[in-house]
Amino acid sequence: MNETRHRVLDALADGPVSGPTLADELDISRSAVWKHVEALRDEGFEVRSDDAGYVLDSVPEFGASAVEYGLDAPFSVEYHDSIPSTNARARDLAAEGASDVVVLADEQTGGRGRLDRDWHSPSGGVWLSVLFRPDVPMAHAPVFTLASAVAVTRAAREAGVEASIKWPNDVLVRRGEEERKLVGILTEMEGEADRVSWVVVGIGVNANVDPADLPDEANPTSLSAERGEPVDRRLFTQRLLEEFDSLRQDTEQVVEAWREYATTLGQQVRVETPGGPIEGEAVDIQFPGALVIETESGTEVVSAGDCEHLRPVTE
Ligand code: BTN
Repeated sequence: MNETRHRVLDALADGPVSGPTLADELDISRSAVWKHVEALRDEGFEVRSDDAGYVLDSVPEFGASAVEYGLDAPFSVEYHDSIPSTNARARDLAAEGASDVVVLADEQTGGRGRLDRDWHSPSGGVWLSVLFRPDVPMAHAPVFTLASAVAVTRAAREAGVEASIKWPNDVLVRRGEEERKLVGILTEMEGEADRVSWVVVGIGVNANVDPADLPDEANPTSLSAERGEPVDRRLFTQRLLEEFDSLRQDTEQVVEAWREYATTLGQQVRVETPGGPIEGEAVDIQFPGALVIETESGTEVVSAGDCEHLRPVTE
């Protein structure tokens, strides 16, 4: 949203305001005010004109302006009803030099998952990618994946869904022994060893989606299925972005917060690493995101791999 439109919207949010007052405050013509109000109406904001001036009656359910409106984080939002992949779009924006941009979509037609898998992204989800340029060495970048898992877990819990994190970055809902996948995260980046140029954190949340419309292999669930009613995607997305913004600025707190929500710690795991599988008890996580596993032959620290929770060994 452009800067002036933002200011028009902020003024409307503070109560009825007349066209001439707005024009004076923003130092623009009355017809420019009118054009901005019309543009907001086109985006789904209900703006009424009465004797007191313009009154904001309602905010659209989802979209760029809806998410930017009242967002307490310095991101601009680019929204698409449908796009092949928000990560691919964010990479293009990175190549153009952009930063602190969120690409958000209602539906993806070519969503990408980890390990070159497809990611099914029907209408009703929160499919987004955050592009930013942290001033850290490449080796620290995994902490942002952890940060996004923590951020989305907090937003899900605020929405009433008891989510937890499976190392490194699956957010799931447990029912007894069963684990159902709620969120997937795909981080991409570019830079030199001593400095990251850009990071794209792609977060796919099964929000208002019927799990029956998602592939079975992942044993999927969704926020709406867990809650029994749709989630307010605008507020959910805002909370997710606000939490992520605070965590990315203070990466020291990320590992501690991750431990709090982790379901992997204390479990028997099998991690497929490039050097072969490692089995044992997951006992801790280390900055910037490595898993510490007690195996029969000693302690292993694993920085990447596909992790499976094994059933506890019963005597
Ligand atoms: C996984 O395999 O678990 C990661 C899935 C990541 C999906 C998200 S949806 C938004 C963003 N755009 C993509 O194409 N992928 C990520």
